[in-house]
Amino acid sequence: VKPESVSLCPLGTAAAPEPELLCIFGTGDLGRSLGQRLLQSGYRVVYGSRRPHSCGPLPQGTQVMSHAEAAQSASLVFICIHRENYDFLETLAPQLMGKVLVDVSNNLKKNLYPEANAEYLQRLIPGAHVVKAFNTLSAWALQNGPSDANRQVYLCGNSAEAKQAVAETSTKLGFTVLDRGSLSAARELEDFPLQLFPEWRLPLRLAFGLTVVLFIYVVIRDVIYAYVVQGKDISFRIMVSLANRVFPVVSLIMLSLCYLPGVIAGFLQLYRGTKYRRFPDWLDRWMLCRKQLGLLALAFAFLHVLYTLIIPIRYYVRYKIGESTISKMRENRTSVFDTTTAWRSDSYYAMGILGFGVYLLLGITSLPSVSNALSWREFNFIQSKLGYLTLFLCTFHTYLYGWSKFLYPSSYKWYTPPAYMLSLVLPSAVMVLKLLLLLPCVDRTLTRIRQGWERTDPE
Ligand code: HEM
Repeated sequence: VKPESVSLCPLGTAAAPEPELLCIFGTGDLGRSLGQRLLQSGYRVVYGSRRPHSCGPLPQGTQVMSHAEAAQSASLVFICIHRENYDFLETLAPQLMGKVLVDVSNNLKKNLYPEANAEYLQRLIPGAHVVKAFNTLSAWALQNGPSDANRQVYLCGNSAEAKQAVAETSTKLGFTVLDRGSLSAARELEDFPLQLFPEWRLPLRLAFGLTVVLFIYVVIRDVIYAYVVQGKDISFRIMVSLANRVFPVVSLIMLSLCYLPGVIAGFLQLYRGTKYRRFPDWLDRWMLCRKQLGLLALAFAFLHVLYTLIIPIRYYVRYKIGESTISKMRENRTSVFDTTTAWRSDSYYAMGILGFGVYLLLGITSLPSVSNALSWREFNFIQSKLGYLTLFLCTFHTYLYGWSKFLYPSSYKWYTPPAYMLSLVLPSAVMVLKLLLLLPCVDRTLTRIRQGWERTDPE
């Protein structure tokens, strides 16, 4: 066996291999940015254009030719043209035979065409190997290279070698490649850039819906009730008092909705006796947006805290305090200090503050830059243990705030319960269900199921 030899040529004297030549069809923004980037990464670039002599400024050092000539000179061709103009490519089928075609196109809307652009391209030129890639990056991201938010290139295609070639180029450009499988995934990749905060949509809708419904509820119970029954106009309370009733209630409900799917999943696994069956779609989707639910819940809690902080400086509150002091002086009355009330109010403030503190910690650790620095065990500990602690503290805060109000018939205006009582239903239910799951016999079975054990039912 010949030992591996090392060439000891002085630097610069070895014949440098000629840089690989890549072809780009299309001289628009994307084509130009891509060309620039390829040049900077050490490739040679040739453009294919319908009008090679009048196609505007192109990156220095690139060549322009007719489509047919350009196609013949390279084995990898980037198709940077709009899908509406694809049909002329059919005439180039002989020149594109066996070449790797990279489809970088996007659409303006979802479901505009019956098939994905890349699949359409493959149908036009069956002899080529189409790879869908780069479409999730903007021209700006392509030209400037990978940044923190734009690191990944998703690709898919039917030929492993073609994908390999595109993956090598992407890696050389500095991107991380994520293979999404065969060309049938092209539609999914083409829909990617059209999505607007997809994982936030459901939580935002929920928060908005809950806020509107609860606002209407408290306006009817407080403002309209006072107007109809007592003939008093207290509509000014909408701005602060009622907002500070709605926001914490929404926050508490959303916080419990973060933990409800986890306990439902636990009971489902117990019932099925296995962890190997898929959860229903709605549960899957619900579990996937827990982080967003939690962050929105935190935002609402934050609003509640800010609204609470301004209570002492409100004109209405200062007026009420002044009035009651003056009327006491006039009537020569004093009031006795009630230790129970002091205990109660201090305790519910304390629970609120502690709850908010842990809530903040939860929110911060769910941010990617922080959670990436944690091990799975640490992340799980914070999100699960501290999450339930937050839920407990906030719920306890609300129970203490309500105290004995539930005993007074005056709390049930028009036979409706106050908003805080409504907010207690879900968190209380979640905590009871979680406690059931923590019972030693239940916990043992669930842990075994989660470790892979399956219950076999007698036939
Ligand atoms: C009510 C203080 C954090 C949930 C209240 C009230 C105060 C208060 C003063 C009575 C408001 C009123 O009379 O209109 C605080 C303080 C907190 C805090 C100082 C932390 C710094 C939280 C957190 C939650 C929460 C994190 C959890 C989501 C509630 C609920 C009510 C309430 C549901 C009842 C609202 C109603 O229907 O009137 N809190 N809170 N609080 N708080 Fe907090």
